[in-house]
Amino acid sequence: GRGEFAHYMLKEMYEQPEIVLKEGSRHLDIPEELTHALHITLIGCGSAFYAAWGGKYYLEHLAHRKATLELASEFHYRNPIVQEGVTIAVSQSGETADTLKAIQYMEQKGQYTIGMVNVPYSSIARQVNYEILTNAGPEIGVASTKAFTAQLLCLLKISISLMKDSARKEKILNGLKQLPLDMQKIFFKVSQLQDIAQHLVHAKGIIFLGRGISYPVALEGALKMSELSYIFGQGFAAGELKHGPLALIDATTPVIVLAPMDQFFEKTVSNIYEVCAREGKVFIVTDEAGASQLAGVPVQDIFVYPSPATWELHPFLSALSLQLIAYYTALHKGCSIDQPRNLAKSVTVE
Ligand code: F6R
Repeated sequence: GRGEFAHYMLKEMYEQPEIVLKEGSRHLDIPEELTHALHITLIGCGSAFYAAWGGKYYLEHLAHRKATLELASEFHYRNPIVQEGVTIAVSQSGETADTLKAIQYMEQKGQYTIGMVNVPYSSIARQVNYEILTNAGPEIGVASTKAFTAQLLCLLKISISLMKDSARKEKILNGLKQLPLDMQKIFFKVSQLQDIAQHLVHAKGIIFLGRGISYPVALEGALKMSELSYIFGQGFAAGELKHGPLALIDATTPVIVLAPMDQFFEKTVSNIYEVCAREGKVFIVTDEAGASQLAGVPVQDIFVYPSPATWELHPFLSALSLQLIAYYTALHKGCSIDQPRNLAKSVTVE
C-alpha cells in the first residue's frame, strides 16, 4: 500500500533516494555485444524515451559511442535503415506495444537487443536477447517517477562501465554515493516547491527550458505537468527560444528554466534575461553553484538543490524537483494524481 502517503506517486517520488543508494552501487552485468558495440540505438516512449535521451548524452560523453535515439511509436513505421549495432529498449512496464514492435523490427534487421525494464518476465523482457532490470520496484502511479530515475541511473551505469577515463569514472562514482543524500535535501525544501506550484495553478500553459542533458529533463518535466495537472506543458531546448517559442512569452505563461552550473550556464542565463525582458514569469531550478551566480536576476523564484559532483548527476536532482512541482500543481487543482484522466499504466495497443 501507499502507507502514510496521500498518493502512490508521492510515495514513489520519496523512494527515489533509496533506489539511487541501492542501485548506484550494485554491480551491473552487461553483455559482451554491448561492450563492443560501436553504435547503440536507444528506443522508448514517453518518459522512458526521455530517460533514453539522457542515456544518449551519457553514452556519447562518457563512453564515446555513437548513440541514436528513436521514438518507438514512430520508428517501426518508417522503414528505417539499420546497420550493425545494439539496441537498448527502455520500458518501465515492459508491455508497451510500440516499443515491442520496434524491438522486433531491430531483431529482424539482425541487431542484438537489450531490454531495460522494470517489470521482470514482461513481454519485452521475454522478447529481447538480454534483459537489464531497473529495480525501481513496482510503480503504481500512472505517471512515471522512480522508474524514470532508475532508467537514467541504469544508463549512466552502463556508460560508466564502458568508459575509459578512470579518474572521471571515480569522480562520477563518488558523486553517486553523495547523490541520495542530496536528493533527500530536496524533500526538506518541499514547501518552496508547493509555493511555486501555487503560482502555476491558473496558468494556461507552462514552458520548460533546458540545455544539454537538462533539455530531455525539461521535456520530462513538461510531460509530468501535462499529464498530472492537465496544464499544457511544453519543453524546449533553451537555444531554440529565438527560433520561435519566444513569441509565446508574455506575463501569463510561466517559464521554468533548468539552469544548473554546467558548461551551458552562461548561455542559459542569457535566455533567462530574454524571457524576463518580455515580462515572462521565470522560475529557476538550479544548484547551489548556479544560484550563487544568479543574485539580482529578476525572476519569480529560484529553487536550489545541492550541487552534485559532476554534470551527469544534475538530472537526478532537477527531474525530482520538476516531478514535485507537477505533483503539487495537480494537488492544488484537485486532479486525479495516481490515475490521470484518459491514461493507462501500460499501453499495450499501438
Ligand atoms: C509518463 C509515462 C509514460 C510512459 C510511456 C512508456 O509519466 O508514464 O509516458 O513512460 O507510456 O511506458 P513504458 O516505460 O512502460 O514503456
